[in-house]
Amino acid sequence: MPQAPRSVGRSDWGVFLTESLRSFTTTASVLPSSKHLASAMLRPIDFERARAIVELGAGTGAVTLELLQRMRPDARLYALDINARFIRFLCETVSDPRLVPLVGTAEDLGEILRQQGVRKADAIISSLGLTTMQDQQRERILSEMRKCLVPGGVVSQFQYWHSRGGPRWLRVLGLRGFPEEEFLRQYFHRISTDHVLRNFPPATVYSCRFATATGL
Ligand SMILES: C[S@@+](CC[C@H](N)C(=O)[O-])C[C@H]1O[C@@H](n2cnc3c(N)ncnc32)[C@H](O)[C@@H]1O
Repeated sequence: MPQAPRSVGRSDWGVFLTESLRSFTTTASVLPSSKHLASAMLRPIDFERARAIVELGAGTGAVTLELLQRMRPDARLYALDINARFIRFLCETVSDPRLVPLVGTAEDLGEILRQQGVRKADAIISSLGLTTMQDQQRERILSEMRKCLVPGGVVSQFQYWHSRGGPRWLRVLGLRGFPEEEFLRQYFHRISTDHVLRNFPPATVYSCRFATATGL
């Protein structure tokens, strides 16, 4: 049976906020995701079948914990973050043999999974702030995601509403917009959206799949 994960408490918020102040561009938010956003991210995943799941940008574990609660007992969660402090926090606070915490960048996803003996993932859950990345970096990451996904697998990615190009006063504050859905369509044939109001800030979840020879 899956082990009971820790609950996300205020200490998670403290660690998250500290890292956000250290590097907002990489952390891309000031607060961890809400349970509502995490649930929306996981809705498209077939947990009955998924055995290898990848999480990109695990942070303090807001989505990680929800994943562990839904995963099969024999599944593995490869939780990657570029920030070693977040991964250390996960190691110290989550005790679940299915969790494989990894420090690294999503740009190297294929090689990182290969080192773990994994060829393809059944699902990839990404909380990465694609909006604040350079074109070359996000293109590399999306190519890696697509390469590492099994045919018929799903990529779940979210974007905050204000990053979609929002009102002019947000742009005055230096918050750039980015046409994320359009960008994702270059890599995936089928994208469905889910809007989550109960998160700070509100966000849209993109569930992405690419067509295979069998049309799945
Ligand atoms: C918006 S936070 C999401 C954290 C957590 N999943 C949540 O929902 O609360 C984005 C996370 O992506 C991580 N990150 C940013 N760039 C990354 C990269 N190139 N590779 C892996 N992780 C990255 C950050 O360190 C941060 O933990």
